[in-house]
Amino acid sequence: MISKAALEAFKNIETPFYYYDMELLSATLEECRSQAAKYGFKVHYAIKANDQQRIVDTVCNYGFGVDCVSGGEIELAVESGFDPAKIVFAGVAKTDAEIRLALKAGIGCFNCESIPEIERIDEIAGEMGLRANIAIRVNPDIDAHTHKYISTGLEENKFGISIRAFDTVVETLSAVKNINFCGLHVHVGSQITEMSVFALACKRTVDLMHRFERAGFPVKSINLGGGLGVDYQHPVANPMPQFDAWFATVHENLPLEPGQELHFEPGRSLVAQCGDLISRAVYVKQGIDRKFVILDAGMNDLIRPALYQAYHDVENLTSDGELQRYDVAGPVCESSDSWGEGLMVAEARRGDLFAIHSAGAYGQVMAMPYNRRPFAKAYYSDEVLK
Ligand code: LLP
Repeated sequence: MISKAALEAFKNIETPFYYYDMELLSATLEECRSQAAKYGFKVHYAIKANDQQRIVDTVCNYGFGVDCVSGGEIELAVESGFDPAKIVFAGVAKTDAEIRLALKAGIGCFNCESIPEIERIDEIAGEMGLRANIAIRVNPDIDAHTHKYISTGLEENKFGISIRAFDTVVETLSAVKNINFCGLHVHVGSQITEMSVFALACKRTVDLMHRFERAGFPVKSINLGGGLGVDYQHPVANPMPQFDAWFATVHENLPLEPGQELHFEPGRSLVAQCGDLISRAVYVKQGIDRKFVILDAGMNDLIRPALYQAYHDVENLTSDGELQRYDVAGPVCESSDSWGEGLMVAEARRGDLFAIHSAGAYGQVMAMPYNRRPFAKAYYSDEVLK
């Protein structure tokens, strides 16, 4: 919820910009930390969701680890003070340079996505005189009931290794010399709101864990990835994700063996709701039978609606007029640069300030300069309201 004081401060800031509610961020991190602590679960922040330094620093202060998908993210995590032993490294295309960087940094675990990757990590670790901790990322073949671009657990997918390749994985693990097999990694997708999807992922993981153990490879750690969804429809009324239900579901469906560790990699759920994209109405125009509000924030600032048909709640912050139906669009020369058609928004005038809610995750990180538009800057509640 954007306070009156924040709104007053917004009047002096050039739009569009990202605004982060640091109190909500802290409350969210605290909720996740305390819910995970109930079961001794370990949390790694999926830094790809938002890598703004202030956000990263705040997450680091809560003692979380990090889930990285590139050398650049590992460097940022290490420079930001995260414990390298709490860094996990996923990604389907880890280059030699990235593998070396990760080994040199002493990361906790490589989440391996293919057999050639395991072999390459083994070779490089051998050259460096090191041993690499790895987990096997397995595709549990589960439909996450989410958008196809953010669903990753289906069997035929560029991510992870199919369960069908089990025998080859075991052969590879038996042959490599410079690898410690630590366990399994499973991530079925993102923006998952049905707990039954996580329950199924747990069941598949338990079966697989038993197969590895029967083959002589004890599973010391299980990483269930991220994916917990947030309420994009009602972000103001419902800003806190269901960490309690997520962890309780996993606790019930994945009984741990003594000494086994359970890890998670939430991204969106930690940072989505603390971020808003703040924008100004440049024009209100009457079409043939619809009205348009054209904002100064567009798909270059937040690409999720254009890329995934994602819904973000749009609020006119400065009008107390009646709700009216508008097509709310951005400035970019693409028809897909739309915040939604037929949205009910308080009567709009040129100059009104708008919030596009739930923009903290996969917003600023995915921004681009298309149409030679400048990058929107970030402002933080504790600075703006000082
Ligand atoms: N772990 C792995 C291996 C992942 O691939 C991802 C996200 C996460 C953790 C974090 O998932 P989360 O908790 O944020 O759902 N740009 C898209 C989302 C891409 C997600 C990619 N992987 C979007 O804006 O919806």
